Amino acid sequence: MIKYAGRAMHPRPVSVIISRSRSGNVNGCAVAWFMPVNVDPFIFAASISPKRLTYDYIRESGEITLNMVPLKMVEAVHRVGSLSGRDIVDKLTKFGFELEPSLKVSVPHVKGAPAYIEGLLRSELRFSDHSLMIFDGVHVYVDDKCFRDNMFSEGTEILLHVGGNVYTKPGEYVKID
Ligand SMILES: Cc1cc2nc3c(=O)[nH]c(=O)nc-3n(C[C@H](O)[C@H](O)[C@H](O)COP(=O)(O)O)c2cc1C
Repeated sequence: MIKYAGRAMHPRPVSVIISRSRSGNVNGCAVAWFMPVNVDPFIFAASISPKRLTYDYIRESGEITLNMVPLKMVEAVHRVGSLSGRDIVDKLTKFGFELEPSLKVSVPHVKGAPAYIEGLLRSELRFSDHSLMIFDGVHVYVDDKCFRDNMFSEGTEILLHVGGNVYTKPGEYVKID
């Protein structure tokens, strides 16, 4: 078995999950292992290691925003995904993210995100090194400048993670008649 077998399932979108501690501290980290789970009601999941400060914060407040991010934010995304909030205070703003208040949760979202989802922790499935955290999606925002006919328009530079410090963006669309 290769070391990171999950990498055979990349490239995939990478998001920034923002969470909040019981006392109100805000933190964010990069997460590529996330997915929709149910259409109506909207439920989504993210696989998060219990070593992350993000994991502790989610357990404390139960609230997140999952922010889709554009290619132009790649450097900031990589930095928040490489250093823990345990070692650097206020890393989201230090690495250049601007935050805005959200609608249904007390956790902010990334200003300029092409889409973000506000979520409330519903349940969790623990495995040996990651935990699949399952959320009720309580509010979804999409930027209608780049999201039309219920999908991101061609050319929208959604950030994809290939592996390690390598990233890309979606290529040409193919339409089936
Ligand atoms: C592109 C990328 C994708 C990542 N995806 C995940 C993931 O899906 N789950 C996870 O637990 N950690 C993931 N990480 C690692 C965390 O983002 C990283 O450990 C971060 O420093 C945790 O910060 P925190 O301790 O402040 O929560 C990823 C990192 C990068 C750079």
